[in-house]
Amino acid sequence: MITIAKQKELVAAAMNVRGEAWAPYSQFRVGAALLTADGEIITGVNMESSSYGLSVCAERNTIACAVAKGKREFTAMAVVSRGGVTPCGACRQVIYDLCGNIDIVLADETGAIKDTTTTQELLPFAFGDKDLG
Ligand code: THU
Repeated sequence: MITIAKQKELVAAAMNVRGEAWAPYSQFRVGAALLTADGEIITGVNMESSSYGLSVCAERNTIACAVAKGKREFTAMAVVSRGGVTPCGACRQVIYDLCGNIDIVLADETGAIKDTTTTQELLPFAFGDKDLG
């Protein structure tokens, strides 16, 4: 697991961006911050659509931003939300595929860290590249 100092830095970055979340339907705002292997922090938020199923979680938006910046290796992600929820199943799969077994820090709306975990813990027995032959 990354150091407590890094966890706090990532959570602060996710807290800072969370206010930009576009969540007019659920009012559930989520901010995420992804630490790249070369030490950059990339942030993102959830973005909803009037066609509700088209909404995209903060975790996946953040990974897409990182990929667009040419980043391919990651160390950790922080997710800030009301209560400090865990990523949804779809995001767990995308985190596994794009980030591998990273550290994941879950914080509530005050920035308090509720849990620290890993991709492996959130998605054991994952389907992935290895299964595609
Ligand atoms: N959401 C996230 O962005 N990340 C999560 O970990 C859980 C859910 C978003 C999707 C939707 O915009 C809103 O929160 C309510 O589900």
